[in-house]
Amino acid sequence: MARIIIKKDKGPVQVKADSWICLCGLSKNQPYCDGSHRRAKLEEEEEGKLYAYDEELKRREVEVVEK
Ligand code: FES
Repeated sequence: MARIIIKKDKGPVQVKADSWICLCGLSKNQPYCDGSHRRAKLEEEEEGKLYAYDEELKRREVEVVEK
C-alpha cells in the first residue's frame, strides 16, 4: 500500500534546545530534521503548485487527479 501525504511546511520546528522535528516530510531521519529541507531548496517552490521529490531530492511538479 502506498500513500501521498501533502506537506506545506518548509522547515523544522524546534522542540528542545538541540532537537528539531521535520515538518517538510523529506528527512531520512524522521521525525527529526536532517537538513534535507535546505538541500531541496524548498524556498524555490511556487505557491499553489504541488511537487514530488525523489531520493536525491530532485523536484518535479505533479498534478493530483482525484477519482
Ligand atoms: S524540516 Fe524536513 S528535513 Fe528539515
